[in-house]
Amino acid sequence: RRRPVARQEDGDYVVSTYREISALLHDPHLSSDAHSLENPGPALAERGDPPAFIGLDPPRHDRLRRMAMRHFGPPHSPTLVNDMRPDLTAVVTDLIENLVGRDQIDIVDDFAYPFPVTVICHLLGVPREDEPRFHRWVEAIVALLDFDPATDPQERLREGTQARKDLRHYLAELLRSRRGRPPGDDLLSRLASDEGPDGRMTDEEIVSTANLLLIAGHETTVNLITNGVLTLLRHPEVLERLRREPEMIIRTVEELLRYEPPVHIIPWRAAYSDLTVAGVTIPKGSRITLMLASGNRDPAYFRDPDRFDPDRRDNRHLGFGSGIHLCFGAPLARLETQIALNGLVRHLENPRLVADPPPYRQSAVLRGPRHLLVRQG
Ligand code: HEM
Repeated sequence: RRRPVARQEDGDYVVSTYREISALLHDPHLSSDAHSLENPGPALAERGDPPAFIGLDPPRHDRLRRMAMRHFGPPHSPTLVNDMRPDLTAVVTDLIENLVGRDQIDIVDDFAYPFPVTVICHLLGVPREDEPRFHRWVEAIVALLDFDPATDPQERLREGTQARKDLRHYLAELLRSRRGRPPGDDLLSRLASDEGPDGRMTDEEIVSTANLLLIAGHETTVNLITNGVLTLLRHPEVLERLRREPEMIIRTVEELLRYEPPVHIIPWRAAYSDLTVAGVTIPKGSRITLMLASGNRDPAYFRDPDRFDPDRRDNRHLGFGSGIHLCFGAPLARLETQIALNGLVRHLENPRLVADPPPYRQSAVLRGPRHLLVRQG
């Protein structure tokens, strides 16, 4: 509250209040392009890889996002996501069937992890038998953001870099195999056959886009579901209400995105020119980290911010970011989490946490338990 914009020892800037973060997310003088910086810091795209649109600025960002969006969202158009409710419910029902009657389950390994990976593979048209390989690759890539002292950073870097290569290679092969067939209903086929107002995506652009959707949409959703279960078990009165009023899940998921957002910080912005934020001048070329989770608990914006309150009105949280990079997968993530949590709330019998707090993933960017053991019955 006293210092919304702080300069770190390494010369980077950290912004932690709602108003300032929000303004910066809408500021065209901020770049998301890791290649515009000498030292891009943690980034999910490797230098040299054709960049995905999360790491691009307009106009290249806007063209690729628009082209992908035509087949994915927004929530009101007849696109893949809206047609997915029955499929998502079927995947959740299947997974929950395996949990019923077991004394102890791990919400992460037994439920929250397999769910989004199955969904995204289905969406992209990845054959079921290849899903375990996807799992391993994505896990190794996301671990590049970890600072877990229990694992060797060199080993993590080696495995993550190899996984990036393998995943790109796999997606390029899958795309090639799609090209030879009549267009199917999956996203990869749709992108490959699109000849809309923005022209065609090149094969490299399609691979980068598919790669981005896979990585951005995986661990984040796992964490939102897991953070959701943890928060509900810590707030049994809300869990009880959800059992009686399942439609309350929409507000509950929004409040989770404020209270326990899976993406805690955005560390990959850079200043294109000198900027003045809350009286502090940030020089051109500086790296800027935006503390979304801190903005979400800013008492100047949210009343009683440390209270988990699904009845909160006008909940304009920063859980999905804001501005031109606002989470592209938000409609899917919302629907997945609503269906997942409502399914668990209905079917778990007298669930209790085994350890509170649970062990957390040691990540600089993502926040969520590594495991969440729950006893039932
Ligand atoms: C962007 C959070 C799920 C795809 C973002 C951003 C945030 C975010 C904070 C903004 C990044 C920035 O400004 O640099 C989340 C959370 C999720 C989630 C908390 C789950 C609960 C998904 C899913 C997908 C997805 C399921 C895709 C299937 C993307 C993409 C972008 C993005 C493609 C980049 C958008 C752009 O640059 O225009 N997400 N995300 N996300 N997200 Fe998500």
